[in-house]
Amino acid sequence: MPSMHAPLVALSCLLASVRAEVTIYGLTGQTTLAHLGPGSSSAPLSTTTSFATTPGPPQYTGLAAYNPVYMVPPAIPSPAPANQFSIGVPSDAQLLPGLSVKQRGSFFGFSIEMSVANQLIGTSSTNLHVPFLNFMSIIAEKAGEVHVRVGGNTQDTAYMVDSLPDGKFLDKNREDASNPTGTPIIAITPDLLFMLANVSSLVNIKWYLGIPFNDTNWRFQIAEKSEAILGDNLLGLQAANEPDLYARHGHRPENWGPEDFFEEFSAMTQAYSSDSQVPVKNNLIAPSVSSSGWTPEQVWDTGFVEAYSDYLQALAVEHYPSDNCAVIYPDPNNPPKNPLELLPQYLSHKSGQQLVAPYLNSTALAQQWGKPFMMFETNTASCGGFPGISDTFTSALWGVDYALQMAYSNFTTALFHFGGQNVSYNPFTAAPTNESAIHQWTTGPIFYSSIFLAEALGKTNASQVKDMLINDGNELTPGYAIYENGQFARMALINYMTDPSGANDYTATIYVGGDGFGEPNAAPASVKVKYLRAPSTSEKDNITWAGQTLGGRFMADGRWQGEESVLTIQCDQANNACQIKVPAPGAALVFFSDAAQAAAADGPIETFSTSIITKSKNTVTIDPSVLATSNGESGKDRLHRGGTSYGAESSGMAAYVAPGIAALISVLAGTAMFIRAS
Ligand SMILES: *[C@@H]1O[C@H](CO)[C@@H](O)[C@H](O)[C@H]1NC(C)=O
Ligand SMILES: *[C@@H]1O[C@H](CO)[C@@H](O)[C@H](O)[C@H]1NC(C)=O
Ligand SMILES: *[C@@H]1O[C@H](CO)[C@@H](O)[C@H](O)[C@H]1NC(C)=O
Ligand SMILES: *[C@@H]1O[C@H](CO)[C@@H](O)[C@H](O)[C@H]1NC(C)=O
Ligand SMILES: *[C@@H]1O[C@H](CO)[C@@H](O)[C@H](O)[C@H]1NC(C)=O
Ligand SMILES: *[C@@H]1O[C@H](CO)[C@@H](O)[C@H](O)[C@H]1NC(C)=O
Ligand SMILES: *[C@@H]1O[C@H](CO)[C@@H](O)[C@H](O)[C@H]1NC(C)=O
Ligand SMILES: *[C@@H]1O[C@H](CO)[C@@H](O)[C@H](O)[C@H]1NC(C)=O
Repeated sequence: MPSMHAPLVALSCLLASVRAEVTIYGLTGQTTLAHLGPGSSSAPLSTTTSFATTPGPPQYTGLAAYNPVYMVPPAIPSPAPANQFSIGVPSDAQLLPGLSVKQRGSFFGFSIEMSVANQLIGTSSTNLHVPFLNFMSIIAEKAGEVHVRVGGNTQDTAYMVDSLPDGKFLDKNREDASNPTGTPIIAITPDLLFMLANVSSLVNIKWYLGIPFNDTNWRFQIAEKSEAILGDNLLGLQAANEPDLYARHGHRPENWGPEDFFEEFSAMTQAYSSDSQVPVKNNLIAPSVSSSGWTPEQVWDTGFVEAYSDYLQALAVEHYPSDNCAVIYPDPNNPPKNPLELLPQYLSHKSGQQLVAPYLNSTALAQQWGKPFMMFETNTASCGGFPGISDTFTSALWGVDYALQMAYSNFTTALFHFGGQNVSYNPFTAAPTNESAIHQWTTGPIFYSSIFLAEALGKTNASQVKDMLINDGNELTPGYAIYENGQFARMALINYMTDPSGANDYTATIYVGGDGFGEPNAAPASVKVKYLRAPSTSEKDNITWAGQTLGGRFMADGRWQGEESVLTIQCDQANNACQIKVPAPGAALVFFSDAAQAAAADGPIETFSTSIITKSKNTVTIDPSVLATSNGESGKDRLHRGGTSYGAESSGMAAYVAPGIAALISVLAGTAMFIRAS
């Protein structure tokens, strides 16, 4: 891929050559890069350093999002899984029992801890972070819309004020010492909501917010104001966040149980129903249990859904497969976990299967109750995830498998969580400082899972998923069939192994329809294939989707780099078979139906042009008239010193700024210029 190679090398040189300047800017302790050393920002993109002989991961004391430590991928088992096998699928969905409910492209959404909204989304309603818009635009283009929750532990003690000093919309004014997750109590202003509304006017994002639930002096201002300001862009309001942990965390009496929650929810809905400033009442999301306190069934058994059905827009749970809490909160009952030992568990189809198993009863009940069932917050591990797992290609493949497993299991949405810069699992992370002209954003591997899912489910709202348990259900080689409007449309194939020799690449021979199903042969003349690839499951930077990368650590602005490469594979129609090779490691999304192939070939659409513009310390506001009259090229020529997006430039798209939007645009020094292109 020479077209991709060149820009990456150029960026490496750029970063290498400016490393000295980083110190000139005097980064604060919180964002210091001094710990990174060689092996991170300017390191070769695919160097894998061996730490296998070290007991536990090597010490690294910098911010988790930029951890440079690599772990050796698990060895290939002996015997290795078969590397040639066949998969038969009918073309008519009715011939395949066990398909999921109809899913939407927005299935894989995001959950942003409220306290980091200013880091990720924008600093005010008139100052949005361009990389955020870019990342979200990628999903919106493929999925139609993006679902984002702003909330988390901080929502429970949030309170709304009219304004804060310095025009801020968010103030983490004090620590709540009683909360073991150490989350700050935050004050927010309506400008947060205006910011979300303004984001939605640029990228089709719909929002979930939360109603504080820390005590029974109900504070509905967030509901009142968000309904008024966000309107249809507000999807729902979560009431209570992991209530099954309230007692354990000291927020309720020790014996506070599901019945007590039921009673409090009753008080809340009564107050809610009589709040005349809340016009929409049927938009609540609950019970959001983490399942480490109560099972969902313990809540269902209180009659919760029957009692509050008129208020409940969707049912939700929150769950992570593991936790890295011991690192933050030493606890004799929860000793530190060694990521190296846990790694194989994430490189296995069993992970997703085990995660959904406790919820299958609930997803079936939810269908009877006529309610969507959401995984409202999840990721690789709570308390920030694990270095070497959450920040590597491991999590990209795991995220694809886990999300497809949830879709197959009749969850209707899954929101993957973002923390700040000191967590490993972010889908993407803001630049380490808002004043650095050089270091840019960091793409988290799990963001590629969200792209894969958006394309796997598409825009029709009529995709159904089935775990095909291919290759005799081998845990290292999962595969899913996806039907759309009742017809076989796509197949997702994953290879969890790392073997640069190619010996453990596998080839799946896919038969469509035919005598076995009492159908005519239905293999198309050719299929299109997009690959999710990296040289190793431990890779952190060089991850590609259909040949393009979003850039690894400090190299991202949310736009594609490199040329897209969608493969066309000829099928053998005489034998009704399409042979698809899946590299070790990697995942393939195979587009079969005409409609799916057409959607796969959708050209570059809306992007937000971003350039490194200046090292000035001051906030730069671009004169709207410049933007209004410039196209992408002239805007770039005028302002940029080191563009990082190649796809957009090479596509020769004209850029424009929609009237009214230009006024929103201002630029943080070193962050970005924002041009809406079409
Ligand atoms: C990041 O988290 C680690 C524990 O995981 C902690 O030791 C360190 O102080 C944190 N760094 C910052 C800047 O908060
Ligand atoms: C709930 O949160 C509000 C706002 O942060 C705070 O004023 C109040 O004291 C909290 N209630 C309890 C019981 O901690
Ligand atoms: C953007 O936010 C400002 C408040 O700062 C508001 O006046 C304006 O109407 C918002 N624009 C949109 C499209 O919501
Ligand atoms: C499913 O949950 C319901 C409600 O709690 C319970 O009555 C039922 O026994 C459960 N079924 C299974 C198979 O667990
Ligand atoms: C998902 O729901 C469909 C439709 O009700 C059902 O046939 C299927 O068995 C469910 N899947 C799982 C894994 O429970
Ligand atoms: C960067 O962040 C710091 C701390 O939040 C703030 O004081 C400063 O004004 C910000 N700089 C810009 C250019 O926004
Ligand atoms: C899919 O659902 C979204 C949200 O309800 C809707 O806006 C969109 O039009 C639907 N698409 C199709 C093809 O029905
Ligand atoms: C990135 O990884 C791909 C395999 O996924 C490899 O072909 C390519 O050479 C790597 N690029 C760099 C710059 O290491």
